[in-house]
Amino acid sequence: MSDEHGIRAGLTNYGDRDFAAYLRSSFARSMGLSKEMLAKPIVGIAMTPSGFNNCHRTMPELVEAVSRGVLAAGALPRPFPTVSLGEVFLNPTSMVYRNLMSMDTEEMVRAQPMDAVVLIGGCDKTVPAQLMGAASADVPAVQLVTGPMMTGRHRGERMGACTDCRRFWGKYRAGEVDQEEIALIEGRLATTAGTCAVMGTASTMACIAETLGMALPGSAAIPAVHADRLVAAEYSGKTAVDLIANPRLPSDVITEHSVENAFRVLMAVSGSTNAIVHLTAVAGRLGIRIPNARLNQISDETPVLVDLKPVGDGYMEDFFAAGGVGAILREIRHLVHLDTIDVTGQRLGDRLEPKMEWVDRRVIRSFDEPISDEGGLIALTGNIAPDGAIFKRAAATPALFETEGRAVVFDGLEDLAKRVDDPDLDIEPNDIMVLRNAGPVAAGMPEAGYLPIPKKLARQGVKDMIRISDARMSGTAFGTIVLHISPEAAVGGPLATVRSGDRIRLSVAEKRIDLQVPAEEIARRLAEHTPPAEHKRGYRALYDRTVMQAPKGCDFDFLTQSGTSKD
Ligand code: FES
Repeated sequence: MSDEHGIRAGLTNYGDRDFAAYLRSSFARSMGLSKEMLAKPIVGIAMTPSGFNNCHRTMPELVEAVSRGVLAAGALPRPFPTVSLGEVFLNPTSMVYRNLMSMDTEEMVRAQPMDAVVLIGGCDKTVPAQLMGAASADVPAVQLVTGPMMTGRHRGERMGACTDCRRFWGKYRAGEVDQEEIALIEGRLATTAGTCAVMGTASTMACIAETLGMALPGSAAIPAVHADRLVAAEYSGKTAVDLIANPRLPSDVITEHSVENAFRVLMAVSGSTNAIVHLTAVAGRLGIRIPNARLNQISDETPVLVDLKPVGDGYMEDFFAAGGVGAILREIRHLVHLDTIDVTGQRLGDRLEPKMEWVDRRVIRSFDEPISDEGGLIALTGNIAPDGAIFKRAAATPALFETEGRAVVFDGLEDLAKRVDDPDLDIEPNDIMVLRNAGPVAAGMPEAGYLPIPKKLARQGVKDMIRISDARMSGTAFGTIVLHISPEAAVGGPLATVRSGDRIRLSVAEKRIDLQVPAEEIARRLAEHTPPAEHKRGYRALYDRTVMQAPKGCDFDFLTQSGTSKD
């Protein structure tokens, strides 16, 4: 083992390299490692177990299986912890901490002596954070996801987190489900280890990791509790060892072509709107930018092929059994770049050569018989969103696609919580609900874009309304919802100028969202805008000073490839 590899890589600075190596070996032996083991190449295993992360409950057995693969292939496995982000356990929102986890991952991969790394994540922000960190560290890396949950049952109905969480909560708010039943359902929504059971953000990011080539082919959709998940872990360990002998860096795997392929798969699976922000951030770490016009072109060319919640009927366990990402890629083979490589070194074109043994067409449609002819997500523009906004047309109500309506404005999350269910709220079903001050700078961009239908309208049977905001939305949610309006209100975006009673026009056909107020009046109102106070200390101060807007993935400006916001 040379000086630059294995246990002698990246020696601690004492001003005496031989002493540093001697001391490290001595301390490593205190972990019970023999000289023979310490002479082997090292595979780090970035593990993220946490008592605050239900989605990572299987982490110990995954680490064991990866270690088995590493040992069998002749290297030394070294698990190490990083930040873990459990979506529903973080205040104000996990999104604030994605970049923190990415920095932790990047720095620990770079600082510790490892020749390759397996990154194990699953919950919404963890896989993006690990991919961002791996891209920046640019050490040979394999992404392994924890896998989705299996479904539960309630009175004969199959259910899974978390589209059904929202559906039943909506029924409860509308008075269709009583207190006793909602309490029963609470224990039946998330019944196994793993990530949310639908095509939410975690599942979408798993599909993206596989399409990028950073996760093993076929590994994205394997349920968390399936034996194949452990086999994928074992192979991930073996693959990491192979990457040491045959180096393929994240920057070789994540290319403009593989990023475009990932956007295609995102459209075909009708994935989460959040994945646009995350994939943009991952690509941005390597200086790759896909403009909104190209995103819309990809969306218009790529049909929705997967019938999964939140836009369809099935769950991730069905997607796995139906053929998974491999089946999707074969259907859109003529649209994807076939020259990309994955961590195994295989070209995508070669991967797709053998036919699938069987595809369940109830879940994964053929290209010629899609769920819908166009992709699920599009970018909008307009005077209210000069830098863009995102709209999930596949999860929206087509009858609302061409609408002009009266704005009902909520000035922030507290205002929303205080007034949305006020019986005196002046709101009609065809109004447009507006939430602002929920963007990256103002509030960490929480998943608050799925504004609840005001109780008084929900009780009249209103199921959907146009809702627009600078916030994000859970990948498991649905509705006619415009998200990620940029620039956000807090940094002086025109969203800050909307007043209740103004008219707003949404046109999905034209891909526009516009405030029907003269430009001079918008400019006059903007001149009165005052930005919110910044945090004074700690990580939140760093966050406030450096976070970029959604079109740049909400990454920190100093974490892009050039270390500036210019990338
Ligand atoms: Fe972890 Fe949904 S809460 S994936």
